[in-house]
Amino acid sequence: MATPRKQLKLGHMIEGAGRTWTDWRHPDAQPGASTDFAYYAESARLAEQGKFDFLFIADSLSINAKSSPHYLNRFEPVTILSALAAVTQHIGLTATITVSYTEPFNLARQLASLDHISGGRAGWNVVTSWLEGTAENFSKSEHLAHDVRYRLAAEYLDVVQGLWDSWEDGALVHDKASGVFFDPDKLNTLGHKGEFLSVKGPLNIARSRQGQPVIFQAGASEDGRNFAAKRADAIFVGDSALQDAQAYYADVKARAAGFGRDPDKLFILPALAPIIGSTEAEAEARWQERAELVSIEAALGMLGRGFNDHDFSVYDVNAPFPDVFTKGFNSSQSATVKIAKAVQEENLTLRQVALRFATPRGNFVGTPEQIADKFEQWLDAKGSDGFVIGQALPGQFKLLVEEVIPILQRRGIYREDYEGSTFRDNLGLDVPTNRYTAAKVARAVA
Ligand SMILES: Cc1cc2nc3c(=O)[nH]c(=O)nc-3n(C[C@H](O)[C@H](O)[C@H](O)COP(=O)(O)O)c2cc1C
Repeated sequence: MATPRKQLKLGHMIEGAGRTWTDWRHPDAQPGASTDFAYYAESARLAEQGKFDFLFIADSLSINAKSSPHYLNRFEPVTILSALAAVTQHIGLTATITVSYTEPFNLARQLASLDHISGGRAGWNVVTSWLEGTAENFSKSEHLAHDVRYRLAAEYLDVVQGLWDSWEDGALVHDKASGVFFDPDKLNTLGHKGEFLSVKGPLNIARSRQGQPVIFQAGASEDGRNFAAKRADAIFVGDSALQDAQAYYADVKARAAGFGRDPDKLFILPALAPIIGSTEAEAEARWQERAELVSIEAALGMLGRGFNDHDFSVYDVNAPFPDVFTKGFNSSQSATVKIAKAVQEENLTLRQVALRFATPRGNFVGTPEQIADKFEQWLDAKGSDGFVIGQALPGQFKLLVEEVIPILQRRGIYREDYEGSTFRDNLGLDVPTNRYTAAKVARAVA
């Protein structure tokens, strides 16, 4: 029998009004979709039809007049995912929640609730927030520095995962005859006091069928990569050329191995939004149609968001890109580095940078067969373990599910059906052992 081939992991990122500042202007776009439950439910139904591993709801907590349409008016992730849990059966449900502006007790409780509501399908994308203006919405005078945010993230994740283990398996006895509701020996108090956090516990909700929610991260900087390689089950990464993706993949997997982990239990998932046409020419025409929705003014506004709201409209757009990189470093550091590299290597003008980053074309424009070829190539060439897929234009995600997924299935690199009932089952990840149970077992053995 032939050895089974490595399987792609796929997620779907739902961005109602569109991925960019201008996608909403497409004739078929639904500008109000970011707060339209029916739109989300239909996207979830399609993703489950396509046997996707998970849905992903990204988030941030600071808007201004320059924010993109989807950011301006959208659902809170855990709330929408809880509703989607009720209309789906198999798919994982991953929410972004920031460690910089959320109490760990609340976060642990919300995600544990989602995990129970969904029968063990919750995931958490651990972010530190890249928009500096967020501090002003949370009674804070300043946004923490990039490296401090990652130190906080590490401590925070310890606390949340510790809280999730508060109740050991079998703790809730519910014995009506004896009147024993729970076994106090199996209820544990965290008692955490650290550099940033002081959390006693226990948490007021037990573990779900998958033990703990699946951990996602999207670190791209040095600090980010180490954190993700050490702690995450899956890592999001921006779209890039295959060669760069391979370098990132090799680097992060090596770091994971260095931390004593099995690199195959850490999934690297670039974000992309394929543009599919029945012919190559049709796909290219669709890409052009999307690019033409962008004005240079919108592109400059979008660029400014990652540079602490720097006003790029004051420069000559046809002159070389201005030296303002320091403004981006405390925000999304890796995106700023990427821009700096492109500017240096290709001597780009401000106009070129703004338009390129406003609607990145990406590597995935073509026929269903060509998109499937690329997915397979990236999987085989260790560029990724799968992808988190957004929708570039209305109808494109449906095309992907109906036309690309069957090709991947025929090639034996994608599931025909869900393997299990929890998110961890479907990713092939073990249920994490409860730390308190493990400690008791270790003490008993010693
Ligand atoms: C696919 C993808 C999704 C992301 N989703 C979010 C998000 O929902 N919220 C957020 O604040 N940052 C998000 N980020 C940004 C990361 O949290 C991080 O700031 C970024 O990758 C830069 O990494 P660095 O801080 O290590 O430089 C995302 C990044 C990627 C690649």
